[in-house]
Amino acid sequence: MAPSTSSDITLTINGEKYPLTVDHRTTLLDALRERLDLTGTKKGCDQGQCGACTVLVDGRRAVACLQLAVAAEGREITTIEGVADGERLHPVQQAFLDLDGYQCGYCTPGQICSAVAMIEEHAAGWPSAVTDDVRPEAGPPPLTADEIRERMSGNLCRCGAYVSIVQAVAQAAAVDEEAAA
Ligand code: FES
Ligand code: FES
Repeated sequence: MAPSTSSDITLTINGEKYPLTVDHRTTLLDALRERLDLTGTKKGCDQGQCGACTVLVDGRRAVACLQLAVAAEGREITTIEGVADGERLHPVQQAFLDLDGYQCGYCTPGQICSAVAMIEEHAAGWPSAVTDDVRPEAGPPPLTADEIRERMSGNLCRCGAYVSIVQAVAQAAAVDEEAAA
């Protein structure tokens, strides 16, 4: 008997269970967009270069075009549709709106998902390539524009809205810090 090329899986997305049968070659991105109609996650390059498809997998940012849907079973996936708390926007979403952190908006879902996880990574003390003092006891470095640019460098914006994207991420991170204080 020829080996099966598809599997029955259940994906957990934004707290909901989605059973589906997928070809083993189906990426998480295509499963979200083409099978589950969760089209907030965008396809840009489809090869891990642009960040448009960024989602959260178990709270960590990941590019959905490089993940197989079958490998995402059992993980908690959060897409842009699940970032807000009901009607209340996530502080990152609010900051992008307040500061016009977009032009055409195509990269925006990926930018927002990435920023949500990036702010948590920073608060947890993860250094970046531009962090001067990487000793664990040094704690999180100031979230300067250079730190934000480096930490968000996997998310490209073809409109070049980087100035306001950096400002929006800084505003959201400040809101997060205030809430934690
Ligand atoms: S579409 Fe996934 S990184 Fe570009
Ligand atoms: S706002 Fe158009 S690609 Fe970023």
